[in-house]
Amino acid sequence: MKNYLPRPDLLAGRVILVTGASAGLGRAASLAFARHGATVALLARNEAKLEAVYDEIVAAGGPEPAMFPFDLAVADDRSLENLAGTLAHHLGRLDGLLHSAHQFFSLTPLSLQTLEQWQTLMRVNLIAPFALTRAVMPLLQQAPDASVVFTGETHGHSPSAYWGGYAVAKSGLETLTRIWSDELASSESLRINTLIPGQVATTLRARTYPGVAAETLPSPEAVMPWYLFLMGEDGREVRGQTVECHT
Ligand SMILES: NC(=O)c1ccc[n+]([C@@H]2O[C@H](COP(=O)([O-])OP(=O)(O)OC[C@H]3O[C@@H](n4cnc5c(N)ncnc54)[C@H](OP(=O)(O)O)[C@@H]3O)[C@@H](O)[C@H]2O)c1
Repeated sequence: MKNYLPRPDLLAGRVILVTGASAGLGRAASLAFARHGATVALLARNEAKLEAVYDEIVAAGGPEPAMFPFDLAVADDRSLENLAGTLAHHLGRLDGLLHSAHQFFSLTPLSLQTLEQWQTLMRVNLIAPFALTRAVMPLLQQAPDASVVFTGETHGHSPSAYWGGYAVAKSGLETLTRIWSDELASSESLRINTLIPGQVATTLRARTYPGVAAETLPSPEAVMPWYLFLMGEDGREVRGQTVECHT
């Protein structure tokens, strides 16, 4: 997939919701999806940063995006259903959902991780992705070719010391992907996968590996071929998988 060359209008006419759209991989994916024709619904907490991404998309000539300032840490079924209703009202359809938002505290031994931290880690990294997907499922099921992409983490796939609740939540996304794909086995028009980006130069990586120079890591743009492949029709046969980026 490293050399995947998406056609310029790969996502034309599609509406894609991206969580964590204000920074890092979610921002890069929003720009890439818009560059390939998608109308992107941008979700994150920081409105000013969302506006900056909105402006970048419009300045590049992409379809006008929509902004959803929203805190996944305090989301409940009602607020998520309201979000789905607003999205349906303003954009009329939903063809894709990329879950890129995440909450990370620090790398620490389990003995130092608190119940409150675990609750937040589970809410933002596992429960909200599940509940948001469920809330927009009726919209996704109306789309002719819909794709849901959860963002996994290497240490959720192959756990190791100090990744604690973050890795546990991320491993849950892979389990969720498989259960949901099993339940949707008869649906040819909707697929769900987990994508593990690997090490990418973002603020998260600067916090988890502060000693590694950002210039030595792939940029968020370098992994976009995988995101575009899974979101567009070329990835149609990939279902219920955990896909790892190898740049
Ligand atoms: N970077 C890597 O090397 C790497 C490696 C493996 C996996 N990943 C995964 O890739 C994804 C993106 O990582 P990243 O490095 O791009 O992270 P990032 O640069 O830290 O961006 C995180 C995004 O999540 C949003 N966010 C955080 N808490 C939120 C909340 N409560 N509600 C709504 N939005 C929230 C942030 O926006 P606001 O602050 O505006 O809310 C921001 O847009 C994550 O799921 C991460 O696990 C990254």
